[in-house]
Amino acid sequence: MMKSFKLGVAALALSTGLAQAGDVEVLHWWTSGGEAAALNVLKDDLSGQGIGWQDMPVAGGGGTQAMTVLRARVTSGNAPTAVQMLGFDITDWAKEGALANLNDIAADKNWDAVVPEALQKFAKYDGKWVAAPVNVHSTNWVWANKKLMDELGIAQPQTWDEFVAALQKVKDAGYTALAHGGQAWQDATIFDAVAMSTGGADFYQKAFVDLDEAALGSDTMKEAFDRMTTLRGFVDDNFSGRDWNLATAMVINNEAGFQLMGDWAKGEFLNAGKTPNQDFLCYRFPGTQSQVTFNSDQFAMFDQNGKVSDEQAALAGAILSPTFQIAFNKVKGSVPARTDLDVSELDACGQQGYEEFKAASASGNLYGSFAHGHANKAAIKNAMYDVITAHFNGEYDSATAVQELVSAVQINK
Ligand code: BGC
Repeated sequence: MMKSFKLGVAALALSTGLAQAGDVEVLHWWTSGGEAAALNVLKDDLSGQGIGWQDMPVAGGGGTQAMTVLRARVTSGNAPTAVQMLGFDITDWAKEGALANLNDIAADKNWDAVVPEALQKFAKYDGKWVAAPVNVHSTNWVWANKKLMDELGIAQPQTWDEFVAALQKVKDAGYTALAHGGQAWQDATIFDAVAMSTGGADFYQKAFVDLDEAALGSDTMKEAFDRMTTLRGFVDDNFSGRDWNLATAMVINNEAGFQLMGDWAKGEFLNAGKTPNQDFLCYRFPGTQSQVTFNSDQFAMFDQNGKVSDEQAALAGAILSPTFQIAFNKVKGSVPARTDLDVSELDACGQQGYEEFKAASASGNLYGSFAHGHANKAAIKNAMYDVITAHFNGEYDSATAVQELVSAVQINK
C-alpha cells in the first residue's frame, strides 16, 4: 500500500517537475556511461535512507548547458533541490543569496577539518558552507592506449617535443593520433594543460587567475596557441562537435593513441572494463608533471524557504561520508574531497592522482582549472572559450587569438 502510494507520488512529481517531500531533485550533467555509473552510487546511497531521487540531467560536458538551464529554473521560481556545480558558479550563486546554509551539517560532520582548503574556497561563502564537495578531478592528464604504445614502441613523453614525436608516430601508423571532440569546453580543457606546460605555473597564475594583461598578451601565450595549432593537426576529420566520451571510446577501441582530458575519462575506461597499466596509461601532460590543475564537483543546495530540508541535509551528509567518497570516486575517476581517507581501494591512476593532488597542494603547485570554472567567473571563462575554440577551428591565427584573448578578458572583467 505504502509502496504504491510512494510510486504514485513519484510519478506525479515527475510529470509536474516538482520535488515532493521525501525526494531530492538533482540537476547535473553526468550523462555518459561512466558518469551515470558513478551517479548510481549516490542514488543508491540515498534510496537506502528512504529518499527518492528526481533526476534532472542536462547533457553537455563541462556543465555549460546545465548552468543555462539552472538560471532559467531559478528565474522562473522553480529552483532544483540540489545542483552539481563548479568553482566560481557556486560562489556567484551564493553571492546572490540563493544557496542554503549547510553549517549545521558541516559542524556535525567536521567538514572544516577534513575538506582541503582548496575546495573550501568554493564550498564556503561568507563563513557559511553552501555546497558539499563530492570529488576532486584534475584536467592535466594524458590517456594513452597501451596496446598502441607497445606496438609502436612509444614511451611516456616527458616533454612537448617528445609528445609531438609520439603523436606523429601514431598518425604515421594510420591511427588517429589525438582523440578529441571539437566543443569549446574540450578545446579549453586541452588549452589548460598546454598553457601550463608552455609557460609554467607562474605564467598560468598570472594569465588565467590574475588576468594580467601582459601575460595574456605575451609571446608565451602566442606559443601556447601555436601548440594548439600543432595539436589540431593530429585530430581526425570528424572531430567537430564530438562528445568527450566518444573521443575516449576511440582510445578504448584501439582507434586512437591519446586523449587529453580530465580524469572523468578514466570513468569511461573503467565502465568499459579496462584496467590502468594493462589497457590504458594515465600520466600528466608533458611539462606539467609537478602541477595539478584541479576542479571539484560540488552539490549546492538551493534555499528552500530559508531552511535546509531533511532531504538536503541527508544528501549533503551522504556526499561527504567516508564510505561514499571511496565508493563514488572509484567509479567516477576522480579522487576524494577529503584528505583523511585510506585510498588503497582506488586504482593506480586514482592513487597517483590523490598523491599528486596532495603534493601539489603542499608545494604550491595546485591551481584551479580555468577551463572548469575554478580560476575565474563564468563570464571570463566563456569569453576565453570563444577565443580558444575560434582559434582551434582556424578562424584566428595565433597572433590574432592573443589579441582577442586580451580584449575578451578586458570586456568581461
Ligand atoms: C566535471 C566532471 C564531468 C566532466 C564532463 C567536468 O566539468 O567536473 O564531473 O564528468 O565535466 O562532463
